[in-house]
Amino acid sequence: MTHEYLAPVPAVDAAEVPEPGAVTVVVPTYNESANIRRLLRLITESVPARLPCEVVFVDDSTDDTPQVIAEAAQDCPFPVTVLHRDEPTGGLGGAVVEGMKAAASEWIVVMDGDCQHPPSLVPELVATGQRTGAGLVVASRYLPGGSRAGLAGGYRVAVSRAATWLTKALFPRRLRGISDPMSGFFAVRRADLTADTLKPLGYKILLELAVRSRPRAVAEVPFVFQERYAGESKSTAREGLRFLRHLAGLRTASPLARMIGFGLIGASGFAPNLLGLWALTALGVHYLPAEILANQLGVAWNFLLIEQLLFRDRRAHRRWWDRLGRFALLANADLVLRIPLIALFVHRFAMGALPATALALVTTFVLRFVGTEALVYLP
Ligand code: GDD
Ligand code: MN
Repeated sequence: MTHEYLAPVPAVDAAEVPEPGAVTVVVPTYNESANIRRLLRLITESVPARLPCEVVFVDDSTDDTPQVIAEAAQDCPFPVTVLHRDEPTGGLGGAVVEGMKAAASEWIVVMDGDCQHPPSLVPELVATGQRTGAGLVVASRYLPGGSRAGLAGGYRVAVSRAATWLTKALFPRRLRGISDPMSGFFAVRRADLTADTLKPLGYKILLELAVRSRPRAVAEVPFVFQERYAGESKSTAREGLRFLRHLAGLRTASPLARMIGFGLIGASGFAPNLLGLWALTALGVHYLPAEILANQLGVAWNFLLIEQLLFRDRRAHRRWWDRLGRFALLANADLVLRIPLIALFVHRFAMGALPATALALVTTFVLRFVGTEALVYLP
C-alpha cells in the first residue's frame, strides 16, 4: 500500500506567515514521538502557505513525545504548543476538547498525530467551510474519492463498518449529511462549537460534537485514510466497550430517551429473572421464595446495566451500596405496590382486570423510573 498524499504546496518563508488566527490544528498524542517530525513537516509543506495556522498538541504520553514536539517546533514557521495532561480524562476525545478550549482561531481542525490524516487537506477543509457556510466539515473515507486504504486488516474494516451502521441507525437526524461519523479528521468553526456541553468519552469525538454541538450545516470532503507512519494504533478492545457506553450516553441524553432505555433494560432483566427461577425450582426450592430470590437477580442485572449505560456520570453523589440499596428498594416496592393498585383500578374505577393490570404496570414503571432518577441518582 502506498502513501498517497495530495500534492504538497511549496513551503514558505517564516516572514510570509501572517499572525496565527485562521486555523488551530488540534492533534491528540499518546506516545507518538516517532511520528511528530514527519507530521510537522507535512503540515509545514501544505498549510501555512495557504492559511495562517497554529498547532496545539494535547498530549497524554508516558514517553518523550512532549520533548520531541518542543524540539521539532523550533523548525516550524508557525506557533506550536504542547498541552501535557498529567491527569487525563475522557481519553482521545477528552484531549481534543481540551485543545479546542485552548484555541482562539476561527477554525479548528482536528487530526491524528500518526500521519494517517493527510495535512495537505487542512486548507481544503477550511476553504470548503468558508465556501459553503458550513460550521462542520468532515473528511470522509466513504465519499467517492475517499478510502480506508490505511485501515489495517479485514477485522478492523468489518468492525468499523458495523459501528458506522449502528451509529447512523441510532442518530438518523443528527448525522444526516455525515457519511463518516467515525472520522477523526474534521474542521469545525469555533462559533459553532459548544465545548462546554461536550462529554467526550474515548475515540469518537466527531460523533460527540455532531450530536451535542449540532453545527448548523455540515459539508464533507473525501480523503484517503493513510497507513500509520510509525508505531501502532492505541485502540484496544476496552476502547470498543467505551464506544458502546459513549453511544448509550449520547442516545439517552433526554429524559424521555432515558425512560425508554430504562424500560428496555428492565425488559432485559426478565432473562436472568426467569433463568434464576428455573434453576431454583429445579433445585427443589418452593416457588414463592424462588420468585423472590430470582427477582433479586433481575434487580442486580438491571442495576449493573443502568449504572453503566444510563447514569454513568451521576454516580458520584452516593456510594455504590447506597445506590444499590435504594434501587433494590424501589424495584421491590414496585412489586408490592402493583396488586393494591390493580385492586384500586378495578374497584374504584370499574376497570376490567386486563386494562387495570396494564395501567398498573405502566404506573409503577413510571414511578420507578422517576424514583430512580430522584432518589438514587440526584445529589
Ligand atoms: N492525548 C491523547 N490521549 N491522545 C490519544 C489517546 C489518548 O488517550 N489515544 C489515542 N490518542 C491519539 C494517538 O496518539 C493518535 O495521534 C490519535 O489519537 C489516533 O489514535 P490511533 O490509536 O492512531 O487511532 P486509530 O488509527 O486506531 O483510529 C483513528 O482512525 C479511526 C477511523 O478508523 C482515529 O482517528 C479514530 O477516531 C477514527 O475513528
Ligand atoms: Mn491511527
